[in-house]
Amino acid sequence: MNSGLELWQRAKMSIPGGNGLLSKRPERYAPDIWPTYFSRAKGVEIWDLDGNRYIDMAQMGIGTAILGYCDNDINTAVKSAIDNGVNTTLNAPEEVYLAEKLLELNPFAGGVKFARCGGESMAIAVRIARAYSGRDKIAFSGYHGWTDWYLAANLNGESNLRDHLLPGLKPKGVPYGLKNTVFPFKYNNVGELREIVKREDIGVIAIEGARYDFPTKEFLDNIQRIAEEKEIVVIADEITSGWRMTDGGIYKLTGFKPDIVVYGKSMGNGFAISAIVGKKEVMNEAQETFISSTFWTERVGFVAALKTIEKLTKNKVWEHLNKIGDIIGKGWERLAGKYGLKLHVTDFKPLITFKFEYDDRNSALYTLFTQEMLKKGYLVTNSVYVTYAHNEDIIKEYLKNVEGVFKLIADAIWHDNIPEKLETSIRDEGFKRLN
Ligand SMILES: Cc1ncc(COP(=O)(O)O)c(C=O)c1O
Repeated sequence: MNSGLELWQRAKMSIPGGNGLLSKRPERYAPDIWPTYFSRAKGVEIWDLDGNRYIDMAQMGIGTAILGYCDNDINTAVKSAIDNGVNTTLNAPEEVYLAEKLLELNPFAGGVKFARCGGESMAIAVRIARAYSGRDKIAFSGYHGWTDWYLAANLNGESNLRDHLLPGLKPKGVPYGLKNTVFPFKYNNVGELREIVKREDIGVIAIEGARYDFPTKEFLDNIQRIAEEKEIVVIADEITSGWRMTDGGIYKLTGFKPDIVVYGKSMGNGFAISAIVGKKEVMNEAQETFISSTFWTERVGFVAALKTIEKLTKNKVWEHLNKIGDIIGKGWERLAGKYGLKLHVTDFKPLITFKFEYDDRNSALYTLFTQEMLKKGYLVTNSVYVTYAHNEDIIKEYLKNVEGVFKLIADAIWHDNIPEKLETSIRDEGFKRLN
């Protein structure tokens, strides 16, 4: 067992579930061999606890390190903030500068609130939206975090959230009184949304900017029409998609007009910062309800975000992410074609993803992919959060290595001996209690 997995066994003794984020559990990758912990990281490189070096062609800080790990410019700005004090009796001026920057980038908006995590910023957005609309009920599509308003969707049965990124989310502990307050609809499925709105007095609609697929024009036009007709507050959750296609969010590409946009993840290149940006009259409702927390005023997040946004916009980083994502996606398709592997590559290039098409064998095949690429010095899964630090040479070398592994996988499918090739148990796809 590697040192990371040894520590993981220890972690589970003191931390229920082992850590604070499902997506960093080894059970999500290759449970018995995943390095699990890092000692240091730079650019796209990570070193584990045994001194092994990997190229990260997987999650890049679960989508946070959009410029690459340990970026010198961001770190220099943050270090200088640290040396001048980060949390004092007085406010950090950078809170104002960042709010002004976000209003400049979102001309529709007139107010900004800050938080640190995605889930909590969606909870803030939902509180403000409910306060403004005066109605409790929410229709939503996609993943929006761990909080009560969202998990309440599964009070009607755990399958409601199955098609929204994470299957198996348990709503235990979520007040039963929240049952029938939130209603999921599939992305790009206008019919489902129409049905919900006909049946329920919806006050808020929340959608993701994009996950695997882009929103269709029909989908967005209909949301806009329904929202106008019924005076519903619309939240665009750009926590994952924001900064990956434009200087702000996918909504900017489509002409969609949300009332609130929410950012998180990559806005501080790994430092914790999130933002709720909305129309002035909507955001002013934050004055009528209590929303306040000590660490929402801490300085590092603001400083990191200001520097990250400066670098993102100056270099139009999203163009690089799209170009590299496209090369990766086309590379997967070419190699899959060459070895007769059935897979589908999704549209959203900066978070490029392939999906095997082998039904109940998919999880075993993803695990095999991770296992074999680990041997070649790569952290992989079937998605890549592309970053500014991934360049064409890195991708060329990665695809060379993928070729050998795709060939091995195709052989295992052909000979129907996938279990014999696996040196680890198979990864989990959703939420599961760990023992
Ligand atoms: C679209 C979206 N919303 C909300 C969240 C929750 O953010 P966090 O994990 O920072 O709480 C995520 C995280 O993956 C996300 O992708």
